[in-house]
Amino acid sequence: MDFLDVSREKWREVPAGGDVMGRVFSSDLLKASDAELLTHWQRMDESGRVPDHRGWYQVLYCEAFAGRQVVEVGSGLGFDGIHFMRNGAKWVFTDIVKDNLETVRRLVDLHGLSAQADYLWIDKPEALLALQGEFDVVWANGSLHHAPFEIARLESQILLGRLKPGGRWIELFYPYERWVRQGRPDFSEWGKVTDGERTPWAEWYDVERIKRRLFPAATVTILDLQFGGGQYGWVDLAVDGTGSVALPPAAVEKLTRSADVIGLPLVSLHGTVQRQAGGPAFRCSSRIWDYSWAIDIGEAVGKIGEDTASNRKWAIDLEFELGSGAVGFILTAENHDEFLGREVVADARPTLQRVTASTYGASPPPRWLLMRNVAHETASSGTLVSASLRISN
Ligand SMILES: C[S@@+](CC[C@H](N)C(=O)[O-])C[C@H]1O[C@@H](n2cnc3c(N)ncnc32)[C@H](O)[C@@H]1O
Repeated sequence: MDFLDVSREKWREVPAGGDVMGRVFSSDLLKASDAELLTHWQRMDESGRVPDHRGWYQVLYCEAFAGRQVVEVGSGLGFDGIHFMRNGAKWVFTDIVKDNLETVRRLVDLHGLSAQADYLWIDKPEALLALQGEFDVVWANGSLHHAPFEIARLESQILLGRLKPGGRWIELFYPYERWVRQGRPDFSEWGKVTDGERTPWAEWYDVERIKRRLFPAATVTILDLQFGGGQYGWVDLAVDGTGSVALPPAAVEKLTRSADVIGLPLVSLHGTVQRQAGGPAFRCSSRIWDYSWAIDIGEAVGKIGEDTASNRKWAIDLEFELGSGAVGFILTAENHDEFLGREVVADARPTLQRVTASTYGASPPPRWLLMRNVAHETASSGTLVSASLRISN
């Protein structure tokens, strides 16, 4: 049985609106009369409209979606699609479960919105190639994080090919911090924690990991936030139409390589840094802005290659523990004072953290990963656990 068949067996049972109404099997809903189905759906819809669930974004995008073409991947019981269609959007519902789509079709008909809707069953990712026309928005609310990265990437790349230049990629996902909080389980186990026993998969995301899935499409981040009490992440990206989405696979493979830089030469600047089994352990001097240490990433830059077409950037994914204070990570040129992108600041926390530092452009290529103390009169201290350099979009 392939993964989507296993997943289909789970997702015949879909969220029943808000966080308080549990789940419901679409096959059971299909047995109800029209009146019963509509009443039940309206109750579920009502409970999901609370401000910290669907409320805020259904307001935010309401006017912007009027007259727009939206394709939703993993539409469940259609709460978002029906809301936006009532306000003028045109919507294509797609899902891996036929009964979910059948339920939505009945509900759309009952709302008198049939002329604005279309449907596509995803038996396998390539089914999305059958989508007709071009779209202003891809809407993925809590669906793609339930598939392994490579399957989600395949679906994403097909959907990207149907997005108009400047179109938007909008996605709800479970954030990295939630995964850490819940014990960093394997993705094949995590779904049981997030969505119940029968859930075969849940994978954490953050904006950088979504961008990796969309690579090589170039994107601009419009929104990147958490909501729902820290349970949900939300990303809204504008996708650059000139991004070379149709690169041959070999070129994509070359551009998506990454290099571990944690073992490369490390220089101590102010404070102390010592290599230990868990990674370099550092204690900064207590003066704010003092450079603490730098890793010479020249060798990794050479290995990945400087073949970075115009709109690409360099990025470094960092995992670390920070017990006290606050630090900033920056990619610099040969001279430590020449920052090549925005400094990424992290405050101390009791759990593992991750951030990505990037350059603004392709050149000059970075030479150092620099960390400095950014806390007032505090000797910030912690351990760098991993550091991986790559080309970014
Ligand atoms: C948590 S529900 C969310 C439903 C809906 N988007 C909402 O906001 O209520 C997940 C939905 O995604 C669908 N799904 C799961 N894996 C998928 C995949 N790989 N591709 C497309 N849809 C998928 C499921 O069938 C289900 O309808």
